Amino acid sequence: MRFDILTLFPAMFTGPFTESILKRAQQAGHLEIALHDIRHYARDRHKSADDYPFGGGAGMVMKPEVIYQALADVLGYGEQALADLDTLIPPPPDRPPVIAMSPAGEVFSQRIAEELAQHPRIVLVCGHYEGIDERVRECCIDRELSIGDYVLTGGELAAMVVVDAVARLQPGVLAAASTAEESHSDYLLEYPHYTRPATWRGHTIPDVLVSGHHGNVARWRHEQRLLRTLQRRPDLLSKAPLSARDREYLRQHGWSTSAPGDEQGIR
Ligand code: ADE
Repeated sequence: MRFDILTLFPAMFTGPFTESILKRAQQAGHLEIALHDIRHYARDRHKSADDYPFGGGAGMVMKPEVIYQALADVLGYGEQALADLDTLIPPPPDRPPVIAMSPAGEVFSQRIAEELAQHPRIVLVCGHYEGIDERVRECCIDRELSIGDYVLTGGELAAMVVVDAVARLQPGVLAAASTAEESHSDYLLEYPHYTRPATWRGHTIPDVLVSGHHGNVARWRHEQRLLRTLQRRPDLLSKAPLSARDREYLRQHGWSTSAPGDEQGIR
């Protein structure tokens, strides 16, 4: 899978993309990440990518032409889009999704990561200052994503989060089984993990894990997922695919659903 990232600060991506799993995934050819410096597309001699907002107010706005030129180049809108500054050439229809990072976007989730992982290529635009000019957003951005209800200094950290979450779902990036039963994969949180030694500073591990009985281990892990979700994120239970047995187990542990969507956790 290929990610094209449009940013004013390409150097910020060193570290997250040059270490560990994402580094190995790129070396192995599972992942391609291309960073494009938006400032490179600024035409004036100061290479300015932002300007004052019409109507006044605090902050600066990213200039539409700079973003448009960057997108036109990266996505191949054609020579006319780059040369003719009076005409808005619509993006080619078969282009990859263009996603802007913004605190006003849809909140990113594991579902969205799974959806994006189906594309062979996506383009991420990192906003800065007060954001990007509305006209370029309207013409050329397919979707806006927020990584949470807080405001960052720019979209770069958010883009890194999206790339990481989507890249690890690509075949070959992680061991095949590691994403199957993890937190959020089916709206249930992950079960607890233990490693050697079996007794650590007087604390032991659940007997079932050394019983050698795979069926019992699987059942215990599933029940732990239910219990953890009930205790920590009861709001997820209304979306989780629960069997009648799961529901009964949860009820025995204090789950009460007075109304649909009104799941109460236990404290
Ligand atoms: N830019 C600033 N804050 C952001 C957020 N929460 N998510 C995505 N992009 C952002």
